Parts: sequence; C-alpha cells; structure tokens
Amino acid sequence: MAYLLDNQQSEAGERFGAINRMFNRRTFDRLDQVGIGAGWRVWEVGAGSSSVPAWLAGQVGPDGEVLATDLDTTWLDADAGFTTLRHDVAAEPPPGEGFDLVHSRMVLLHVPGRDQALASMIQALRPGGWLVLEDIDPLMQPLSCPDVYAPEHRRANRLREGFRTLLASRGADLAYGRPAPRRLREAGLTEIEAEGYFPLSMPDCAVLEAATIRQIRDDLIARDLATATEIDDHLAYVATDPGQFATSAIITAWGRKPL
Ligand SMILES: C[S@@+](CC[C@H](N)C(=O)[O-])C[C@H]1O[C@@H](n2cnc3c(N)ncnc32)[C@H](O)[C@@H]1O
Repeated sequence: MAYLLDNQQSEAGERFGAINRMFNRRTFDRLDQVGIGAGWRVWEVGAGSSSVPAWLAGQVGPDGEVLATDLDTTWLDADAGFTTLRHDVAAEPPPGEGFDLVHSRMVLLHVPGRDQALASMIQALRPGGWLVLEDIDPLMQPLSCPDVYAPEHRRANRLREGFRTLLASRGADLAYGRPAPRRLREAGLTEIEAEGYFPLSMPDCAVLEAATIRQIRDDLIARDLATATEIDDHLAYVATDPGQFATSAIITAWGRKPL
C-alpha cells in the first residue's frame, strides 16, 4: 500500500517546514531529556527532511553518528553532517546495531508493517539505549477547527474526516499514538513515560492544513469525499482565517532497553 503523503509531491516540503516549526521544540526537549550528547550513535527513522537529523548531528558532535533513513530521501541533505540511507523500516532488517538512541516521528502510524518496524527499531538499540517514539493519533483530536461556530468550520472538519478515510484506506492506524506506552512495556522496555500535545491556532497549523489538502485533493475528489468547489472554498477560507486551525494530537513515548 503506497504512503498517502509521498515526498515526491511539491507540497511535501511545505508540510515538513510546518511540522518542524510546530513540533521540533518538543521533540528536542524529549531527546535532551533522555540524555542525547557527544559521541551518541542515533538512528532517525523516516526522517523526512534534514531538520531533525541535522540537529541530532549537532548534539552528537564529530565523535557521534547519525543515520537518517527514509523510504524516500529526496528532502534529506547529503551534506548536513549525517548519513542518509534509503530504507523501508518494516520490510528491511535494521541498518545497524548498538544505537544509543532510535527516534521516529509521525512514521509508524502510516506503515502497515508497523509491528515489525517497531521490533526492528528496538532490536537496533544497545542495552541501555533509548527509543523515542512519536506518532500522530488522528482520532484523539479529530477536528481541523475545534471551535465550531460557522459553516466553514463544519466543512473543514468534514474534510479532515475525509483525510482520515484516505489514511485508513492506505493502511494507517488512526489510533496508533495512544497505546504507545503499553507497546513499549510489552516490548520489555523500562523507564517508560509518555505525553500528548497538539498545536492550536499557530500560523503553521494553517500552512499544514492548506498543503495537506492540496496534496490529497485528487484523492478526496476521486473517492467522493469532497467536491472540487468545497476544496477550493476551504482553501480560500484557510487563507483568510488561519487562526481557526489545529493539528492532530501527537503522542510521544520513550523507554529504555534493559541493560
Ligand atoms: C509525515 S512524514 C514525517 C517526517 C519526519 N519524521 C518529521 O517528523 O518531520 C512520514 C515520513 O515517513 C516516511 N515513511 C513512510 N513509510 C516508511 C517506511 N516504511 N520506511 C521508512 N520511512 C517511511 C515517509 O517517506 C515520510 O518521509
């Protein structure tokens, strides 16, 4: 099953920019919390763009190593201080072993072979190494416009529902985020903690909304989930009232492979 939001489409760059600006600060806080530092070996799974692996490379310094893998490495900059590899986390064996940290953000919910992928990520950790798993949970905060007081907000929320229908049809798990602590426990990790977060009324919520709807426009129309007019009117509304929008919730869970 093909990944719905594939990186070859021009909107992917806009989406990565908005995601990085809204989510990096919290991601970096959590990676700091588990102790990332000089000399660490890190596997960034489904890296998307260079922003997170470049930050990781700065943290681990010249004695460390950052390997950024993705199905599609188009947006990964080869000269940003980390190694890039085209790799399917569900279908291929881990690209290394003994990592101090394995991190992925907004990847496994999309991957039909997510159980195999998670097992592979844990296998790649050294004893005592940290897994930091971040996944969107599209059903936990299902609204594009949480403050519903106009027809435009109801239309936006219908389109968000259409987006979820498309994701599910490509094998996404729409409630993958919330069981993360249990999954990490069942996998034998220790020192497990988790938290949830979603941006609301940040300018980049509207940037992400518009880029996503443009990217899935043809699929929404082909599946009768929206008309071209509804989509055009929605995009015009996003441009005129960008403060109305929210993203889905992200669940970040972290745990440690036993020594
Ligand atoms: C929503 S993007 C998130 C990108 C990045 N982790 C971030 O947070 O900005 C999902 C990424 O996962 C990648 N991806 C999807 N399925 C994958 C797989 N089976 N193996 C590796 N990467 C995959 C996509 O190519 C895409 O770059």
